[in-house]
Amino acid sequence: MASAVDAVSFPADFVWGAATASYQIEGATKEDGRGPCIWDTFAATPGRVLNGDSGEPATDHYHLYRDDIALMKELGIGAYRFSVAWPRVQPDGKGRINPVGLDFYRRLVDELLEAGITPWPTLYHWDLPQPLEDDGGWPNRDTAYRFAEYAAVVHGALGDRVRHWNTLNEPWCSAFLGYAEGQHAPGRTEPAASIAAVHHLLLGHGLAIAAMREQQAQHGGEQLMGIVLNPSDIRPYSDREADVDAARRIDGLRNRIFLDPLFRGAYPEDVREDLAQVTDFGFVHEGDLAAISAPLDLLGVNFYNHDRVAGSTEGLEPGTFSEPGVPGATATSWVGSEHVSFVRSGYPRTRMGWEVDANGLYALLTRLAADYPGVELYVTENGAAYADTVTPDGEVHDPERLDYIRSHLLAAHRAIEDGVPLKGYFAWSLLDNYEWAWGYSQRFGIVYVDYGTQERIVKDSGRWYGSVARSGEVPA
Ligand code: NOJ
Repeated sequence: MASAVDAVSFPADFVWGAATASYQIEGATKEDGRGPCIWDTFAATPGRVLNGDSGEPATDHYHLYRDDIALMKELGIGAYRFSVAWPRVQPDGKGRINPVGLDFYRRLVDELLEAGITPWPTLYHWDLPQPLEDDGGWPNRDTAYRFAEYAAVVHGALGDRVRHWNTLNEPWCSAFLGYAEGQHAPGRTEPAASIAAVHHLLLGHGLAIAAMREQQAQHGGEQLMGIVLNPSDIRPYSDREADVDAARRIDGLRNRIFLDPLFRGAYPEDVREDLAQVTDFGFVHEGDLAAISAPLDLLGVNFYNHDRVAGSTEGLEPGTFSEPGVPGATATSWVGSEHVSFVRSGYPRTRMGWEVDANGLYALLTRLAADYPGVELYVTENGAAYADTVTPDGEVHDPERLDYIRSHLLAAHRAIEDGVPLKGYFAWSLLDNYEWAWGYSQRFGIVYVDYGTQERIVKDSGRWYGSVARSGEVPA
């Protein structure tokens, strides 16, 4: 596939995209009948988000979407992954539909199609309507049914022009960061509830797929449907038994607790045993796993970094590992991971502190293709935060981000050459945006946003990525 010695070529039909999410870019949180969501509430709670930042005004994309689409077109980006804000469509999370909210996504999709950019909506990227959280949130089974209804509403409105659908974004974060760690909205720290949330997120996904497939049959035409996960390449620190077992447990909680029910129709036995003190899985009803494992066309993979874990801190350099089981220490003290430490390997780190090693993406993609065959893979997010500044020439020079994206694309290319059915790549993110509990302090965009003026400045990485998207070639 290599066309020149110094560049690798991707397949002609490879999808080149950029990604965002509603709460992170839209702003306009009180406009046109949008209801409150759990992130509005969380951000308004003192101490939860850095500097008390909220999704208002973010990048004001609700008003500037036409400009942002024009920018993507100019760059040469072929596909746009965005999310639909549930509280815009159904302000109460159920029942009443807000036609003005739905209309925003109609206009967005039409504008994208007009620009020759393929729309890739995700139905849920963490902005749960607050009234549903008041009723119990994702630990409550009813939320799964409400999600399927909402999915059907959006699909009913856009299904005649949108061909690529994803249900959830990173349910690991919704369940574990939202209900166990408390670092994400709604900020609860209830281990048992977090596992119930895992199940109801998956059930909501399965029911939504069923509802959309039924409508798809009425619409006619081919549609591709899937889910976006954030599986990780989990490595044991050494071949010590304790480390190997720590890697097994974290792989279970991060990866297999989602992948196995989705693609094998069952929760892994070892994960159930690891969680025996926390839950008896009594929330699984007959028929749930059949709904959850309905066949998918695509699996979205969000990848940022690998995880290296140890089951014992003996022999580790002080300061190179997280304290086992200390809540909030590293965002990695998960339910069921009480005796696990996350170890640094000495790779360069991004501003988030995440280690950069593109081999992790290669390892993850080849593993997914081997263990869960039969589904097409897309890297639905990949990118890095660095401390960008506008230099006196009015530009943003971000060589580290460019290099990050380049090395991960080369890793993705290697995976394709080795037979992985990887069909596309979406840079995270099109725009600098609201990085959840980090507020506006972390810039992931390939386009810089001045939050004071809402001016957009294409970073060097954005211009470079645009040329890659247009040519399908990555300089080696
Ligand atoms: C994954 C999430 O989907 C996205 O919302 C977030 O901004 C990026 N990771 C970076 O942390």
